[in-house]
This record gives sequence, C-alpha cells and structure tokens, in this order.
Amino acid sequence: MDEDIKRNSFSGSLGFILAASGSAVGLGNIWRFPYLAAKDGGGLFLFIYIILAISFGFTLLISEIAIGRKTKQSPLIAYGELNSRWKPLGFGSLIIPVLILPYYCVIGGWVLKYFFVFLTGNGAAAAEDGYYTSFISDISSPVIMFLVFLTITFLIVLGGVEKGIEKFSKIIMPLLIFLVIAIAAYSATMTHTDTYGETRTGLEGLKILFIPNFKTITFHNLFVTVMDAMGQLFYSLSVAMGVMITFGSYMRDDTNLPRSVYRIELFDTLVAFLAGAMIIPSVYVFIGQEGMRESGPGLMFVSLPKVFFQMGTIGNVVGCLFFAMVLLAAVTSSVSMMEAVVSCFIDAFKMARKNAALFECMICIFIGLLVCLGYNIFYFEVRLPNGINAQILDILDYLSNNIFMPLVSAGTCLLVGWVLGPEEIISEIVKNGETFSRKKLFVFMIRYIAPIMLAVLMFKAIGFF
Ligand code: PFF
Repeated sequence: MDEDIKRNSFSGSLGFILAASGSAVGLGNIWRFPYLAAKDGGGLFLFIYIILAISFGFTLLISEIAIGRKTKQSPLIAYGELNSRWKPLGFGSLIIPVLILPYYCVIGGWVLKYFFVFLTGNGAAAAEDGYYTSFISDISSPVIMFLVFLTITFLIVLGGVEKGIEKFSKIIMPLLIFLVIAIAAYSATMTHTDTYGETRTGLEGLKILFIPNFKTITFHNLFVTVMDAMGQLFYSLSVAMGVMITFGSYMRDDTNLPRSVYRIELFDTLVAFLAGAMIIPSVYVFIGQEGMRESGPGLMFVSLPKVFFQMGTIGNVVGCLFFAMVLLAAVTSSVSMMEAVVSCFIDAFKMARKNAALFECMICIFIGLLVCLGYNIFYFEVRLPNGINAQILDILDYLSNNIFMPLVSAGTCLLVGWVLGPEEIISEIVKNGETFSRKKLFVFMIRYIAPIMLAVLMFKAIGFF
C-alpha cells in the first residue's frame, strides 16, 4: 500500500490522551466557559457543568471514540460501516468541521495578532477603545494573520498523526498547563484600588466564580444554566464533529479506552475551571462586575487587554504569556479539526495526506476569507432565532453549534442506543477486560436522557422557547 495512504496511529495511550485533550482544550475553555460561569451564577453553573460532564458529555465522548476505534474509519465512512442506513450522519460530521475550521482559524489569527502586539511591548495600544473593532474591520491584517495560523495548522497535519499531531501535543500540552496554572495563581493574588477608592481583590473574584448564588435561582434560570452548560460541553469536548471518531480510529487496540476518556474529560474540565480562575478574578479586580458581562471576543480582545494595561509594566509580560497560551490551545484544536476532514478525504477518496490537506486548506481559505471580509466589504447583520445580531462568523457558529451538532449527536445516540444497542459499543470499550464503572449510566444516558436533552437544546436554539 502507498505509504501516504496507510492508516496512521498514535504511538500509545499518552499520545492519544494528549492529542485528544489538545483538541478539547481550546478557545471554548478560555473565552466561553468563564463568561458562562460568570453569567449563570458562578458555582451553580460549575456544579451543573460537572454533573453534565460526567454523565452527558462522557457518554457522547466515549461513544465517538469507541466508534472510531471499532471501525478504524474516518467519520464519513464509520457511521455507514456500523449501519448502512445511517451513512448520512457521516456527512453531517464532515460538514461541521468544514464549517467551523475556517472561522476558528480566523479567530486564531486574531489571537496571533494580539500575541505579537504584546510580544513587541505594544499592549497599551490594544487596551484603547476601538482597537479591536478597527483591527477586525481592517481588510488586510486579519486575512494575513488567518493565513499564518492556517499554515501552522496545515504543517502540523502534514506531519501525520504520530510525527505531527502527537509530537506537537506532547510538547504543547504540558507548556499550556504550566502557563494556565501560573497565570491563574498570579490572578488570585492581585489587588487593585480604582479611581473611586474601591479596593477589589483576586480572592473576592474567585468567590464570585466558585460560590453558588442561590438567591437568584428561578426555574427559568436553572433551565438556561443547564442549556448553557450542555451547549458548552459539546463544543468543549469536541464531540459531534468527527474529531473524536477520527482520533479513536488512530487509537491502538490495547489502549485502555475508559481510562483515557476519564483523563480527557478531567483535563478539559480542569483547564476550563483554571481559565475561569484566571480570567474572572482579574477582570473583576481591574474592571469590576460590569467587565464580566462581556462575552467571547469582547472578553478576550477588549476587557483583558484593558486588564493587562492596568497591571502596569508587568501587564505586557502577562498579556504576552496569556495570548501565547491561548494560541497553543487554539492550534491543537484547529489541528484536530483539520485532521478530521483530512482523514475523511484520505479514507473516502484515497487521497494522499498532502493532497487532502491542501484541498481542505483551499476550502478553508475560501470560507475564511468570506468570514474576514464579513467585517468590512461584505458587512451585514442578520438577527438569528437566538436573538444574536450576526455576521458571517456568527452564522457559521450558530449553524454548526446549534443545529448540526445536536442533530449529529442525537443521531449518534439513537444509532448506538436503539439501532445497534449499547452492548455493541460497550464490548468495544471493555475489549481488553477494562472496568467500565459508568456502564449503567452510559446505557441510561445514551438511550433516554441524552436524545431528549439534545432535542430540547435544538428546539431552544431555533427559538421554540
Ligand atoms: N474543543 C475546542 C474548544 O473548546 O475550543 C473547539 C473545537 C475543537 C471544536 C475541535 C471543534 C473541534 F472539532
């Protein structure tokens, strides 16, 4: 067989765990999780998130990895191998990374830009009002940064599974964890007195994040919190986009599957919590509670540069380390998405890795350019059913996260829970005699709870309630 077409694999369980964790830990953990935690009442959100992670998230994650290892196929083919009538699910899980990767790389390009700004000691400029808006509406700079970020992703994927993705993850993940812990620890020790003479400390910020605020709980709040946590789990665990099926297909048969999944889950949740502990106290200390209401881009590209500026001279160093850390997290995730698409092209069309990766880059450049130009030449706004005033990036995000991902995941649950039967997947999970302590929970979730929750999530996203 042609060397290029031969199926790659990870060298062992560590390589698999780090690569899959690298996929899971990304922009979602760093900019979305802390914002949701602050919005949804701190500790209560965290509590619900943990419960859902070990039940709902775990069920989806272990199913996909087991499907990958069982079929040894990319998602486009894997579903059809399990049951030929369910082949269309494979298309669904190919389309999702094709849609997400371009805008993920555009945002990766923004992170790269901010990293350079802080690296060259110009953090003060990034803290000025209007800096972010004028940067993203510029015609050339975001495009150049997007292309650089995409090229980095491409080169790692080109290296293959063991020599590219695994090797890169083994270097990057420990560094990432070190940076997150260091910045979180620094953030907890901060104090600042504002122009009104009010002093706020990092520890108070941590309390806001971790202590549940039961006073404001209503049935509606609880419902919103559960939906937010569930939506976040999908994105954060990289499920429903073919990535975990792809990585599962590269997993060796003698790897302990349940143990690996517990570790990925733990890794992802830990980094999300640490990101919360890093961001919430620092925004609270320097900007106060109102700074925490910013979401996504606003939090990372507007509030945080202001925080770094307020820190004085050390702010440039902290900002530089912070954006380096975000960059590493984003690259490992974009690599996993590109790999999911490339593996489909390799398996389905017998393309060589290089051609498959180049082809995916072309698609990505086309959509990514539309996303970049969506902030200037093609600027428009539409109101989505979830109330967001959207540009091209938000539309892609909405379609993939709110419609396609719940659909593909619900399909996976029905296929495993009812068509194949959970035993078929369980036998793959415990193939080497491993203990599967959450087996009963898995069966109950995949057959009943997860499909219902996914349907509710989707109906809510399309504005049903
Ligand atoms: N899990 C990543 C994050 O939390 O940012 C995002 C992601 C990675 C989404 C890989 C999709 C994917 F295929």
